[in-house]
Amino acid sequence: MSLKSTAKRVVSAFGWLPVVSPVVRHRSVRAVLERVPGVRSLYASGWERTHPFDRVHGTDTSGFAPADDLPANEEARAHAFFYAGSQPNVLRTALATLPPAGPFTFVDLGCGKGRALLVASEFAFRDILGIELSPPLAKIARRNAAIVARRFPNRTAVRVAVGDASTFALPAGDLVIHLYSPFGPVLVAKVVAAVEAALAAERRSIYVVYCNPVAGHCFDASPLLRRRFARMVPYGADELGFGPDEADPLVIWQGGPAPSSLAAAANARIVVDGMRAILEDP
Ligand SMILES: C[S@@+](CC[C@H](N)C(=O)[O-])C[C@H]1O[C@@H](n2cnc3c(N)ncnc32)[C@H](O)[C@@H]1O
Repeated sequence: MSLKSTAKRVVSAFGWLPVVSPVVRHRSVRAVLERVPGVRSLYASGWERTHPFDRVHGTDTSGFAPADDLPANEEARAHAFFYAGSQPNVLRTALATLPPAGPFTFVDLGCGKGRALLVASEFAFRDILGIELSPPLAKIARRNAAIVARRFPNRTAVRVAVGDASTFALPAGDLVIHLYSPFGPVLVAKVVAAVEAALAAERRSIYVVYCNPVAGHCFDASPLLRRRFARMVPYGADELGFGPDEADPLVIWQGGPAPSSLAAAANARIVVDGMRAILEDP
């Protein structure tokens, strides 16, 4: 039996046990193990496994869809990143740092199958809206929203629109805008321009919650936005092994007359390595 298939068998037998998984996925252990021939396969992204969120809710937000699956006629396809769901614990941590959700609309730019929207529905947002370029993913997101709405009829309803999120007209009022690396800097720059126009048009608070902020420099360059939060946010214990790492980089910007309780570490440096960002001390 080859080393690669042996590694796979070992991982499927032991690698995802709660006690072993955090050790195997720890950055320093991973750095050593990945150098062993064949063992890199041990570190498949984890996105392809059924996420505990889906097991609990009976939804379908797991899996991976390459950008090649997006509609060929869409101009935005050239800048699009793949579909993979974000880690609920990362978004919950982010939303818990913000003021009460009541007056805010939550907007997920590139909502995929809707996992972030469903997590947002745990908070009392005024409205919850996702925009997705892929019609099949948007259809799954709507189905997932219906499943969660049946289970939690008192939550704010989740709405999903098909379209290019970089040209989408932002709703009026206070906003929490979420991005989990949906696309590259060309389209992120358009989102920044839309946020600036929204702030100029109306006195309101806008928070931008950007997970894996590979184009975070576009928001940093805006004179109308300031950093509020920047941290590597750990996955929940049950989420280890269901994403590409054990923590995700998360940066929050704020614009408008928002209270500015800025965390000391909010100025962490965003370092980009391919499709992945990490945060380093400035
Ligand atoms: C990494 S997934 C994030 C999914 C979701 N936001 C979450 O947190 O679970 C990025 C999504 O952005 C979508 N996307 C890429 N470019 C887009 C665009 N221009 N407009 C809308 N959606 C886009 C992709 O199809 C994919 O579903």
